[in-house]
Amino acid sequence: MRLLFLGDLVGRSGRTTVIERLPGLIADNRLDFVVVNGENAAGGFGITEEILGQVLGAGADVVTSGNHVFDRREALVFAARQERLLRPVNFPAGTPGRGAGMYMARNGANVLVINAMGRVFMEALDDPFAVLDKEIAACPLGEQADAIVVDFHAEATSEKQALAHHLDGRVTLLVGTHTHTPTSDYRVMPGGTAYQSDVGMCGDYHSVVGMNHEEPLRRFIEKVPGERFSAAGGPATISGLAVEVDDATGLATAVAPLRLGGVLSQTIPPFWD
Ligand SMILES: [Fe+2]
Ligand SMILES: [Fe+2]
Repeated sequence: MRLLFLGDLVGRSGRTTVIERLPGLIADNRLDFVVVNGENAAGGFGITEEILGQVLGAGADVVTSGNHVFDRREALVFAARQERLLRPVNFPAGTPGRGAGMYMARNGANVLVINAMGRVFMEALDDPFAVLDKEIAACPLGEQADAIVVDFHAEATSEKQALAHHLDGRVTLLVGTHTHTPTSDYRVMPGGTAYQSDVGMCGDYHSVVGMNHEEPLRRFIEKVPGERFSAAGGPATISGLAVEVDDATGLATAVAPLRLGGVLSQTIPPFWD
């Protein structure tokens, strides 16, 4: 089985580029399952139901999120009916929506997707390690789940790497999101879990984490309230991680980064030899 995970879609540039190119990526690489983080898809903050529909329509199987999931208030309503939208699983009980779900891949496999959020330099939430243990125990890899994908939306690399050791061998892919900048530590861990500290964003990298740089820069220099942040609108780089999965075990056998278009574009050989 072949999985593709795409990092946070940021604004119109990231969103439209992914919607345009995802169908071709799926066909050319015979991808069985695609997860996209959509927390910044609407103008850089949140997601609307219309955009969610467009991303799913382009071929994403699941859209994950993070701290910005409810920035568009309408998400508080449609999160309940949209089973392919996930918000962090360790949000307080009573939060609308769901943090995990089982979905069928194009090859018929059952894929468990879990979205969790870190706590270091972020909001106070339930322990993501304990919550993930509980979710995985309910649908273990190789039993109810043929593959397990975890989107760990977190700021601190240390927390992400610690979780990688905690989950190694129990999930197919653990990928970090939220920093909007890809790390080069993608690999298959010794236990067979594919891992990358942060997958980056799909957006304009000539920016400050996807936002036009003027206002973020000004806030570092002057301490007075100013303009709102706005999503940068230059050409987007699609940034993701592709994973080849051993169908017998559900563990990863190979990973390859994807950097397509925009200022970060790299000539990386096709994911699959
Ligand atoms: Fe984000
Ligand atoms: Fe985030």
